[in-house]
Amino acid sequence: MATVVFPGSFDPFTLGHVDIAVRARQLFDTVIIAVAHNSQKAPLLDLGVRVELAQSAIGHVEGIEVAVVDGLLVDFCEARGAVAIVKGLRGGADYDVERPMALMNRSLTGIETVFITGDSALSHIASSLVRDVARHGGDVSAYVPPGVESAVLAALRVRK
Ligand code: PNS
Repeated sequence: MATVVFPGSFDPFTLGHVDIAVRARQLFDTVIIAVAHNSQKAPLLDLGVRVELAQSAIGHVEGIEVAVVDGLLVDFCEARGAVAIVKGLRGGADYDVERPMALMNRSLTGIETVFITGDSALSHIASSLVRDVARHGGDVSAYVPPGVESAVLAALRVRK
């Protein structure tokens, strides 16, 4: 039974993340979506909200779980017996960001990172763009699972 960890800030969870998790599940028995507690980025959404949104978007799918990663990702992977880390790539810019992390994680414990190419129809979707479009009054409902847009709008209201 092969388990992989799909980590991220998921601020917020998008349809691009759903796509990668589903593709990963087609390859591996268990996919743990690991929501980072200590992201270097100050998140818009609280950790509990990010976990809840990922859970309601995809947590019901057999073989897909949602968890919190607090501390080093490689330690979490070891604790959960993961054979690899999974990341999605939309294009070359993603690879440039991901490559040093993949190399560092492999250097730390030997764990490999498996890159999955996302659906090209979703390659314009990024959590940062969803936040920015929503912040400026745009409709982001086409880019995120149900419930995410209202959570983002609620968080933006609190920030104002
Ligand atoms: O969605 P993001 O913000 O690009 O995800 C980055 C994330 C959470 C995967 C990365 O910051 C991470 O792995 N954080 C956990 C702490 C850690 O292990 N840092 C060293 C990474 S080489």
